[in-house]
Amino acid sequence: MSSHTFADSPTTKRPEGSAERIARIGALKLGRQPIVMVTAYDVAAARAAEAAGVDIVLVGDSGANVVLGYGTTREVSLDEMLMLTRAVRRGLRETLLVGDLPFGTYEHSDEAAVATARRFVDEAGCDAVKLEGAGEMAQRVRAVVGAGIPVMGHVGLLPQAARDASELRAKGRTADDAVRIIEDAKALEAAGCFSVVIEAVPAEVTALLAAHVGAPTIGIGAGAAADGQVLVLHDLLGITPGRSAKFVKRYSDIGAQMLAGVRAFADEVRSRAYPAPEHTYAIAAEELEALKEKLGGT
Ligand code: KIV
Repeated sequence: MSSHTFADSPTTKRPEGSAERIARIGALKLGRQPIVMVTAYDVAAARAAEAAGVDIVLVGDSGANVVLGYGTTREVSLDEMLMLTRAVRRGLRETLLVGDLPFGTYEHSDEAAVATARRFVDEAGCDAVKLEGAGEMAQRVRAVVGAGIPVMGHVGLLPQAARDASELRAKGRTADDAVRIIEDAKALEAAGCFSVVIEAVPAEVTALLAAHVGAPTIGIGAGAAADGQVLVLHDLLGITPGRSAKFVKRYSDIGAQMLAGVRAFADEVRSRAYPAPEHTYAIAAEELEALKEKLGGT
């Protein structure tokens, strides 16, 4: 497990209680208690996640798809991610908040990675950041951790590497690819990640990976052997339209309820059933008379 203590750097001050929230994730793993992570992109979802007692809220760049309507996560800007993250921050008090560094804002240099990570802490109140990939990205992790900001890694399927939806395919299905993913996770742990997301790999590969990596692993489409699980909120609530990935389980059908609710409103406006008297403000009879007089007795 990571030995970093994540003391605040002189320039970047994480929210109060951050160090304890990070330490708690390691303690959950040690206690063999599954870690629960969901994504959120607004204050209402953040409040729901906290009230439900989830352990980690991730403002994922999946927000590019599910709330901003882009085709890929590569299109969301840093400013857009910061706006979503600030909204989520306003809805959380106790829960660990992780911000996802968007494509193009951290890969090319350590300085860029640290500067972007700092904006998530300083401007959006994050406890930690997440970034995708290993290889050269392990060095970016080292730089960001060195600046006092905890980092969650991400291996397996890397959505930021996909230029369109057809490239979002499971990884680690050959021995060579699986070894690479396990090596990636080990490198991220060695670079100081406090936790690693494993996306879309066979369950057996996750189990082998978990045996080689001490940092808590959070799976998405990676089977039951990970230390925790994450799903995109809009997928688990059934808000995302159309076919979902194989690993998505829908716990609600909010999309259908949204459609029914808006349709009922439209029907009642058109039939003049809404607004009814109980939805309308009153004015005292004498004030109404006075108003009519002021308007010329109409
Ligand atoms: O952006 C996101 O929602 C993610 C999760 C799938 C881990 O990276």
